[in-house]
Amino acid sequence: MADKLVMNLHHTSVLVADVDEAFDRYSVLLGMHGEKMDGCALMRCMHEDFCLVLKPAGGRKPFLDYVAYELAPGLSLTDAAREIERRGEKVEHISVPQRGAGLLLHDADGNRVVLVERVRPKDPRSPVMIPNERLLGYHPRRLGHVNYLTGDVQAQFKWYTEILGFKLTDWIGDAGLWLHVDPRHHVLAFLEKGYPHIHHTAFELVDFGEMRAGLDHIARHGRYVTWGPVRHGMAQNLAAYWRMWEEEHFIEFYCDMQVLDADHVPFTHPDDPYASNTWGILPPRSYFKFDPESVKMEREQVHAFLMP
Ligand SMILES: [Fe+2]
Repeated sequence: MADKLVMNLHHTSVLVADVDEAFDRYSVLLGMHGEKMDGCALMRCMHEDFCLVLKPAGGRKPFLDYVAYELAPGLSLTDAAREIERRGEKVEHISVPQRGAGLLLHDADGNRVVLVERVRPKDPRSPVMIPNERLLGYHPRRLGHVNYLTGDVQAQFKWYTEILGFKLTDWIGDAGLWLHVDPRHHVLAFLEKGYPHIHHTAFELVDFGEMRAGLDHIARHGRYVTWGPVRHGMAQNLAAYWRMWEEEHFIEFYCDMQVLDADHVPFTHPDDPYASNTWGILPPRSYFKFDPESVKMEREQVHAFLMP
């Protein structure tokens, strides 16, 4: 059994108060398209089978439901389940939209992680060559990574590397952890903030020009940028973060992320402002908070008026 179980990030599932409203919102704000089926919606950026599931919250709090990864090519759910149990972790068999079956695990913070078998794209051509009458004029390229806040970054490091075989990319001090499963700098990251919470899901755009178009677009729909555009020192990506306040997380737009050398050696970046942003501006403190008061203060940019 290969050490590495996971090939790539496949989709996120989000519990929403109203599937029709959320379907329209993700279409309008993010240029995603998709289908509704069985009370849920499946959405995509370009030509993925899907990269987002919208599910009725049904009385629960609207929130990130789970993050789903595809298993390594050829690895079956049965074999993966056996291996994960051997590594000391419980798995549950669940049903996943379109894919049928999946495995459900809980990471060290209790976040829900789903594994599905790898399905190769039906059309081997580059996505830009594939006709798609429903593709919108503005759309991200792909779902790229997920970032959580945690109260125990070491426990999450151990869980993802030992249970799922994720590889360490870099640390920032001992508080920020970046992990990869393919040559892209990270597919998953954790920031030690004293409590577990989803922080952002990140969508890749082609370049800085498209980020400009994306940020102009969301501004016209009443969304403000909480932080950015920035140039992350660590991971190198150009990034900007805006709130999807309905489900208590941020959306990141990014491009130009570091591609790892085959002989990449994990590095511990100093925990200084310029590892976060080589251009120098740090986020408001509300960037790590999700309570209504912090969001309101951020929206009104109270820090800009009160700070000497
Ligand atoms: Fe990110």
